Amino acid sequence: MHLNLTHLPSLILPLILLSISTPLHLSAASSTPTSFTLRQVPATNVSLEFLDPTLPPALPKETAPKCSVLVLQRDFADTVGSPPATANYTQPPDCPAPWTRVVLELSLSVSNVQRDRVAAVWVNGAEVLRTTTPLSTSPAGAFWKVHKDVTRYTTLLRHYGGSGTVTMRLENSNIASFSGVFSANVSLHFYRGAVPVARPAAIGTAHPTVKGLYREPADLIIPITCEKDAEGGGFWLLVNNDSHVPAAPVTIPRNTYRAVIEIFSSYHADDEFWYTNPLRSSFQGGLGASRANGGFRQLYATIDGQFVGGHIPFAVIYPGSINPYFWSPVTAIGAFDIPSYDLDITPFLGLLLDGQPHEIGLGVKDSQPYWLLSGNLHLWVDAWSDAVEAGLVEYTSPPLKINRHAEWRNQDGQSEVDAEGLIRFSGWVSSSKGNITTTVRQKVKFKSQVEVQNRGAVKHVEMMNKERTTVGLAKGNQAMGRVQLFIEAPLQVQTSSVNAVGGAVFQRTRLYHQLQEVLNLNENMAVSTSSLTDRQDAEGSVLMHDGAPLWGSGSLRSSYKYRDENTCYLRTVNAAGGVVKFDVASPQCSGVAVA
Ligand SMILES: *[C@@H]1O[C@H](CO)[C@@H](O)[C@H](O)[C@H]1NC(C)=O
Ligand SMILES: *[C@@H]1O[C@H](CO)[C@@H](O)[C@H](O)[C@H]1NC(C)=O
Ligand SMILES: *[C@@H]1O[C@H](CO)[C@@H](O)[C@H](O)[C@H]1NC(C)=O
Ligand SMILES: *[C@@H]1O[C@H](CO)[C@@H](O)[C@H](O)[C@H]1NC(C)=O
Ligand SMILES: *[C@@H]1O[C@H](CO)[C@@H](O)[C@H](O)[C@H]1NC(C)=O
Repeated sequence: MHLNLTHLPSLILPLILLSISTPLHLSAASSTPTSFTLRQVPATNVSLEFLDPTLPPALPKETAPKCSVLVLQRDFADTVGSPPATANYTQPPDCPAPWTRVVLELSLSVSNVQRDRVAAVWVNGAEVLRTTTPLSTSPAGAFWKVHKDVTRYTTLLRHYGGSGTVTMRLENSNIASFSGVFSANVSLHFYRGAVPVARPAAIGTAHPTVKGLYREPADLIIPITCEKDAEGGGFWLLVNNDSHVPAAPVTIPRNTYRAVIEIFSSYHADDEFWYTNPLRSSFQGGLGASRANGGFRQLYATIDGQFVGGHIPFAVIYPGSINPYFWSPVTAIGAFDIPSYDLDITPFLGLLLDGQPHEIGLGVKDSQPYWLLSGNLHLWVDAWSDAVEAGLVEYTSPPLKINRHAEWRNQDGQSEVDAEGLIRFSGWVSSSKGNITTTVRQKVKFKSQVEVQNRGAVKHVEMMNKERTTVGLAKGNQAMGRVQLFIEAPLQVQTSSVNAVGGAVFQRTRLYHQLQEVLNLNENMAVSTSSLTDRQDAEGSVLMHDGAPLWGSGSLRSSYKYRDENTCYLRTVNAAGGVVKFDVASPQCSGVAVA
């Protein structure tokens, strides 16, 4: 079927005309620039400020920070293959630890049209933020700010006696019409004074700060990275496939009584759109075989080769993906602060407390080239003893039950990947706090479905991830506390395509994406619950040529709701044609009419 372009709906904004022969993401390993043409640009009234509506960090009452330090200021022009930007920083003498909150602010602008990039910030060698940059389609550029509560990393700032390094990597290239240069400022804001609401500063993946039972930030953070001699950080572990699990040797103090591995990740090249991948064998034709291994991935960690826990990643949609006009000016869920994942490995401390180095590995199940990972090992140490004792009691870790099913006839057909699993780890640690048993239990239920009809013209993607993770502490037979995190992340993308003149394809897409998290904290006989629902619904059209947008339009409705015993916060933002049409935040969740 052919479409006469003069009959396209008038709401379509002519924005940019470009042709790109590789995916829009560029990073460590894919540094070869490709050829671009850009024929047409301007768009009036398009917002230059991009935003990610999330819960503002919980701050002390007198909300002005005790001090703010601009730690790194840098322009990123042609930076592919260069070392990351590093700056030394010194804590102002009148602003010593302890702090009740530390907030990282990344303020960025781009000077012109530029592709979307992945960037990250490290403090003293440990990654603290993984982020993406919006697709800048205007010659006037764009600007945005990312705020992240980094209180859980305060040990990194104290560790070097108030000085250290801050590193940022943003690989960019200024070629042809993509001449946008990024300017970045990284600042740290230090707060003192009591935080008014005892909200567990964090909820799951959306605000990974001080979580649940881990109210106190770790005493020590050891980065898990390939470049041991690169003090400042700025390096990632590259994972190419399922059987490739890069590992780093780590030696931990013998008086460690609690340990958590935090995993940062981003996906590139063949796996940039893993969450929409169908399952089909290479001889079944259609999509490139490399994109056809299904939509299931799991991030996991190993200790000396043994699996110690994993998480199915939340599908963060990059700014250039699906329909780039959806994500302007409101970004996709998690795009400014890509969620990291915590694995409580306290039950395994018995394997690590011998004062010897152990290999901690990070992997991605079912992955294709390539993922960029890094890990932080958060450790809590017993100030009252030189060595603690620990032992593993239970290790129940059957492989996930994965069912794969595919039925294709030429372009059309459907495929499904289901995964289900239950793991349980339990171990005791005897320290000055007593002999405490930690039990980690995780239940996973995942489904990815892809259906293609009408000779490839209609594609329907559906994904659902449900995960329940419980960490319980007990002294003998007496329960001391329990934190339970329930995650539900549905995604639906429906696209219909029509061939247009000149080999272009006109695509109409409808998308629904949600991240729901409920955290139950059970401590000292008291139970508290907090919940978050971050939802986006988008609809729009785009004219694609060679896999890149020629022009298009999009409208997005987003709502972010957080609730606990003391707070209810709701922000609704609707955008269309690159402009915010409706933006209401309500600290009481009341009086908001959803437009
Ligand atoms: C652009 O914005 C101005 C002022 O807000 C408004 O008057 C004008 O109608 C807008 N133009 C378009 C094309 O939306
Ligand atoms: C940071 O400090 C170290 C040692 O004091 C020095 O060698 C290095 O050049 C400094 N780096 C920057 C970017 O100023
Ligand atoms: C960075 O800070 C400098 C100095 O305060 C300011 O002039 C500049 O506009 C800032 N840049 C961004 C992207 O925020
Ligand atoms: C997996 O990746 C590693 C590292 O890049 C490579 O050496 C190995 O050949 C790959 N294995 C498969 C089956 O592709
Ligand atoms: C701690 O408790 C576990 C059982 O809960 C026991 O097996 C272990 O021996 C105890 N460790 C010490 C040092 O008492």
